[in-house]
Amino acid sequence: MTKTKRFIQAVTGQKTDRPPFWFMRQAGRYLPEYMATRGEAGSFLDLCYTPDFAVEVTLQPLRRYQMDAAILFSDILVVPHALGQKVDFIKGRGPVLDPVDTSEKLSRLSMNRFHDHLAPVYETVSRLSREIPPKTALIGFAGAPWTVATYMVGGQGSADQAAARLWAYRDEAAFRALMDLLVTATADYLIRQVKAGAEVLQIFDTWAGNLPPEEFRKWCIEPTKRLIDKIRAVYPQVPVIGFPRGAGPRYPDYVRKTGVSAVSLDTSLPLDWAREQVQSLCPVQGNLDPLLLVSGGPALDQAVKDILDAFRHGPHIFNLGHGIVPQTPPEHVARVAEIIRNYG
Ligand code: CP3
Repeated sequence: MTKTKRFIQAVTGQKTDRPPFWFMRQAGRYLPEYMATRGEAGSFLDLCYTPDFAVEVTLQPLRRYQMDAAILFSDILVVPHALGQKVDFIKGRGPVLDPVDTSEKLSRLSMNRFHDHLAPVYETVSRLSREIPPKTALIGFAGAPWTVATYMVGGQGSADQAAARLWAYRDEAAFRALMDLLVTATADYLIRQVKAGAEVLQIFDTWAGNLPPEEFRKWCIEPTKRLIDKIRAVYPQVPVIGFPRGAGPRYPDYVRKTGVSAVSLDTSLPLDWAREQVQSLCPVQGNLDPLLLVSGGPALDQAVKDILDAFRHGPHIFNLGHGIVPQTPPEHVARVAEIIRNYG
C-alpha cells in the first residue's frame, strides 16, 4: 500500500509520475469550513485537543483539493503546554506564553504529565491514519527545539526572537538545559506520533534564519541531529523533512549534518542554486511564495511552472515556502492543484 503513495515515493528519493503536493497550513482560516469548526470548538487549543474537531479540519482541505499528503492538525506550541507552561492563542495577536527565561522557571516544567496531556493528539493521528484516503500520506510534526524555545523564552512571536538569543548568550548553560529538555520531549512526542500512524515527520525550524553561524550550529543543527538520532533509534526508516527557514547558504550544511531525509525550501532560495546545491543532496520540498496564492493570476501560474521546471528531475514535493495566509482565495489553491496535476 505505502509503495503506491506518490508522496512517500518522493520523500524517500524515488521517481514519481508528477510531483506530489501539499501546502503548509493547508488546514486554516482561508477555508470557511475551518472557521465554522473552529467556532464550534471554542478556542484554538480546544480545536487541537479534541480529536473529532482536529480530524475534521485535517480532512477539510483534502476534500477540496485531494492533496498527496495530510498534515496532523495541531500546533508546535502544544509541546511547551504539555510541559506545564501557560500558553494562550489570542485573536489578532497569535500565541502568548508565560515566559520561561530563568533556571528557576525552567525547573517548574516537567514531563510528568506530558503524554497524558498529548493523548488527544495521538488519538487524532491514529484516527487519521484510518480515515484519510488510501493514496494520501499522513505527516506528523513538531517544532524544532530552537523555534519552540524562542516562543517559550520570549513569550510571543517577534521579528528577531531576541529574548532566546540573549538568554543563550548570557547564560549558555541554563539555555542549554531548556534545549535538552526540548530535544527529549520532542523526540518522545514524535515517536508517539509514528507509533499512532504518522508515516513521515516534519520538523519546523521557522526561526533558524536569525542565528549567526556558530549559534546556527549549536542551536539549530546539533539539536535537530540529536532529535533525529533519537527517533531513528526507534524507527530507523521513518522519513523526516526539515524546514530550517531562512538558513540561506547553510541549507546544504543542515542537510549533511542533521540527517534529515528531505528538506523544505523557503521562498528566499534561488531555484537554480537550490537545484544544484540542495536537490543534489536530498529530495526538496517547496517553495512558492504564499503571497502568490493570494494574488493569483498570471504571476501565480508562471511561478508554479518555474518551480515545477526547476525541480523536474526530482525528487520534488510541491509546497509553499511558508504557510498559507488567511486572506488566500480558495480558488487559487484549486488552480495550483490543477497545474500540478496536469504537469509532466
Ligand atoms: O499546516 C497545517 O495545516 C497543520 C497545522 C499547523 C498549525 N500550526 C495550525 C495553526 C502547523 C503545522 C503549525 C505550525 C506552527 N505553529 C509553526 C511553524 C510553521 C510556521 O508557520 O512557521 C509556528 C511558528 C506555529 C506557532 C503559531 N501558531 C503561530 C505563530 C500562530 C499565530 C499566527 C497565525 O497564523 O495566526 C499559530 C496559530 C495557528 N496554528 C493557526 C493555525 C491554523 C491559526 C489559529 C486560528 O485559527 O486562529
